[in-house]
Amino acid sequence: MRAEILRLLRQNAGGYVSGEDISKVLNVSRTAIWKHMQALKDEGYEISSHPRLGYCLQTVPDLLLPNEICPRLTTDFIGHSIHYYTTVSSTNNEAKRLANEGCPEGTIVLAEEQKVGRGRLARGWFSPFAKGIWLSVVLRPKFPPQEAPKCTLLAAVAMARAVRATGVNCGIKWPNDILYNGKKLVGILTEMNAEMDAINYVVIGMGINVNTDASEFPEELRDIATSLSSVLGRTVSRTDLLIALLHELELLYTQAGEEGFSPILAEWRKLSATLGQPVDVFGITRCFSGIALDIDEDGALIVQTEAGLEKVIAGDVSV
Ligand code: BTN
Repeated sequence: MRAEILRLLRQNAGGYVSGEDISKVLNVSRTAIWKHMQALKDEGYEISSHPRLGYCLQTVPDLLLPNEICPRLTTDFIGHSIHYYTTVSSTNNEAKRLANEGCPEGTIVLAEEQKVGRGRLARGWFSPFAKGIWLSVVLRPKFPPQEAPKCTLLAAVAMARAVRATGVNCGIKWPNDILYNGKKLVGILTEMNAEMDAINYVVIGMGINVNTDASEFPEELRDIATSLSSVLGRTVSRTDLLIALLHELELLYTQAGEEGFSPILAEWRKLSATLGQPVDVFGITRCFSGIALDIDEDGALIVQTEAGLEKVIAGDVSV
């Protein structure tokens, strides 16, 4: 109902719509309309009311409200179920809970702020209120569990496409960090629940530093993290970016299901900021240095070391 009311108000952008007209079109009482208007105001919409003219939408809050996202989605299933929180511990935790309860594929969890945002390798993730996109997507891929790491590369390519469309010439650091000038714009944390031969679900958690000011990052992150607004020198619409990201994600996910991962791995290589570079590898069991040569068909990083070729399946690299 609130989405419908907003649609009517937007149709008359800048003008008034009478309460009577709204109640006729939506077939509800004027009192019900008034209550919905109050609820929208509570969410942060500025709506002016006039006894004779009716209601006029003045401003929309800078929040990732489902009512702002749903009407603009260009996807067939990703984002069609949205769980939105002002504050949450971690959107990935919430997404895993929903996935265990059987939520549909494509369900997304969004939060304005995370209290315990989680990063890869048991690190934290700085997630201040309304400054970034803190998002988790639930997928239920049909491919075998061994292929799940490729979902991470797929997400990185979708992310790089969406970020580049804002004008930021970012690259991907293996496996899936999005960097600009060596500083991190985006982190991706993929988590899986699977049997031996089938995936129950994959949760792709994505954190994008959109409008965080350099001075707002904690001291220890200032040299290694940045945001789109810092790079571009202007505020970036989080809603526009989210819509573009979900679009790219669904496009690539559908392509992977139909054609396999080869075209996605090829695009990952083109976007890579790691390949061809000297790297220090911090693997799960040991560390070494070498030149990053390529990724194999499973997404593992191939590193040329003095001792020969090494394959890195999990871990971190510094370029
Ligand atoms: C990393 O680079 O270490 C990965 C960071 C992933 C952060 C995102 S923010 C949304 C989702 N919820 C989390 O708790 N983490 C991911």
